[in-house]
Amino acid sequence: MNETDPLVVFTPSGKRGRFPKGTPVLTAARQLGVDLDSVCGGRGICSKCQITPGYGEFSKHGVTVHQGALSEWNAVEERYDQKRGLKAGRRLGCQAQVMGDIVIDVPPESQVHKQVVRKAASARVIQMDPATRLYFVEVDEPDMHEPTGDLERLERALREQWEIPEITADLTLLSKLQPVLRKGKFQVTVALHQSHLDSVPRVIEIWPGLHESGLYGLAIDLGSTTVAAHLTDLESGEVKASSGIMNPQIRFGEDLMSRVSYAMMNPGGDQEMTRAVREAINTLAEEIAKEAEIDPSLIVETVFVCNPVMHHLLLGIDPVELGQAPFALATSDSMALEARELELSAINTRARVYVLPCIAGHVGADCAAVALSEEPGKSEDLALIVDVGTNAEILLGDKSRVLACSSPTGPAFEGAQISSGQRAAPGAIEAIRIDPETKEPRFRVIGSEKWSDEDGFAEEVGAGGITGICGSGIIEAVAELRMAGLMDESGLIGSAEATGTARMVAEGRTHSYLIHDATAEGGPRITVTQGDIRAIQLAKSALYAGARLLMDERGVDKVDRVVLAGAFGAHISAKHAMVLGMIPDVPLDKVTSAGNAAGTGARIALCNVGARREIERVVREITKVETAIEPKFQEHFVAANAIPHKTDPFPELAKVAPLPNPSFNTGGGEEGGRRRRRRG
Ligand code: FES
Repeated sequence: MNETDPLVVFTPSGKRGRFPKGTPVLTAARQLGVDLDSVCGGRGICSKCQITPGYGEFSKHGVTVHQGALSEWNAVEERYDQKRGLKAGRRLGCQAQVMGDIVIDVPPESQVHKQVVRKAASARVIQMDPATRLYFVEVDEPDMHEPTGDLERLERALREQWEIPEITADLTLLSKLQPVLRKGKFQVTVALHQSHLDSVPRVIEIWPGLHESGLYGLAIDLGSTTVAAHLTDLESGEVKASSGIMNPQIRFGEDLMSRVSYAMMNPGGDQEMTRAVREAINTLAEEIAKEAEIDPSLIVETVFVCNPVMHHLLLGIDPVELGQAPFALATSDSMALEARELELSAINTRARVYVLPCIAGHVGADCAAVALSEEPGKSEDLALIVDVGTNAEILLGDKSRVLACSSPTGPAFEGAQISSGQRAAPGAIEAIRIDPETKEPRFRVIGSEKWSDEDGFAEEVGAGGITGICGSGIIEAVAELRMAGLMDESGLIGSAEATGTARMVAEGRTHSYLIHDATAEGGPRITVTQGDIRAIQLAKSALYAGARLLMDERGVDKVDRVVLAGAFGAHISAKHAMVLGMIPDVPLDKVTSAGNAAGTGARIALCNVGARREIERVVREITKVETAIEPKFQEHFVAANAIPHKTDPFPELAKVAPLPNPSFNTGGGEEGGRRRRRRG
């Protein structure tokens, strides 16, 4: 290269250099480290290397580009354009040669490390750097005079054409290597998986000729109640389909500990549960591939995030040790496996599986995924992140240090063990307001945008009607009872006499608040009972106590912001959560929802192999706090039983929701109970 050679400036990177006339743009890009894709290695058949040359005056770059700065449109480009069509102004970077000073734009779809916007509402992006990639190669034909195996010649081709020094392939691939090579006339595309955990890349799949149907991966959030999957394009990062199914292990026990006890009580019970969940994952993979109209054998990677018990059951490890102190995991490290080892037969059997590391015996890979997605360790202010589910997983941290614990909230927040409770599905009350004057409720159900006191509500709700109350609905209901003065700080619900509303109905020794009664039409009668409130109190006390324990450990008594993660977190109203005392007191605008952060973390790990390294490092540095053996937990739990809290002040909450202070404890449950029974 010398000073008279043409100057090539790439945008958006701004990288520049001088190259002799006749240098292909792809070569110039590679030498400058410009991110320009290529699967065919410059043969003019993959079209991944598309670029847009700019002509005219570029004062910013100090370059004037004349017509003729690139070589003429050639026959290869002409053929590609006729067969597939190139966008106006585009050239193939491997065909166009530099002839004069030129400014070349690399469009996002031609970048290997393209950035994918994680979700519309967020500025965060996923940088594409997948572990599995496609390489087109021309392999030498066998020669009697120079006897070598097909695999060795494939390896040589990858070395010479792609600078990949070594590869490995398993027997099932070897068995298809020969026919595929011959079918492709010794031109093939291979999918190579380069894990950060293995030194040698592995051939996952091979296709004759140029493979153009893409590569896909599954990001799976394996929860105790549901299994959710995102089918993701490993080249573009685009989510092709998302789907979920119920975890069939529910039949062995609703919550994690009951599944552990099932394994303890029933010989072979753990294997039964392993089988059930693997079958479900296969069904889910089949369904999601069908929905996206993608051949399931093109799914070459899967990333799992799950809690420790699900982690062990997925891997086929008896979770019995997780049921008792010291809660030892068989392994907490991340794992790289083959789909076959997990009997994932619905996808490519050579697909690679990556399981995120667990943080501790009670804090799983799902929490690690939340940490990957929300990055508390990069936060300037102190963030409390709670992933609310059957078990709440809690992270507290900022740049200096991150702590984690889990807390056994139980399923009440999901609408289970609630008298009128149901899962979040059409017909479930998801939001409710109680008028502080009239004490009358109005509510919204899933499936309709209208409130129950708005015109057209009944028509919209339709024949399915109002069926029950889901997690966010019950949280709001209890908080509203408190704000309307129908329930006191201890969680005791008042009588009709004490509160002045006939909505309070006596039930045995206690009272219930009647939200909706459709019994006359054969429908349900939806109430909030004293038992429901107790269940919510237990759940919220566990959540708050876990957060407090982390705050103690960190030596603080307040946090700067709260992030509610989990699908459910997206539906909880910040104000109601705080009235209930689920979360510590912060200004309301400091409570945000992160949606399904565990699922997002799984997608990040699927699309970016560097993120796997990163989360493995982060997890090693997280301080683990074990709630089950920490004596202070019990103390915090008891204090958190009051609504919002017995001792902790909630000054920010008081600014937005002044709470009335009735007391319905009229002296002795027995006495009150007898009186109420006589009245009833
Ligand atoms: Fe494949 Fe240019 S690199 S078409």
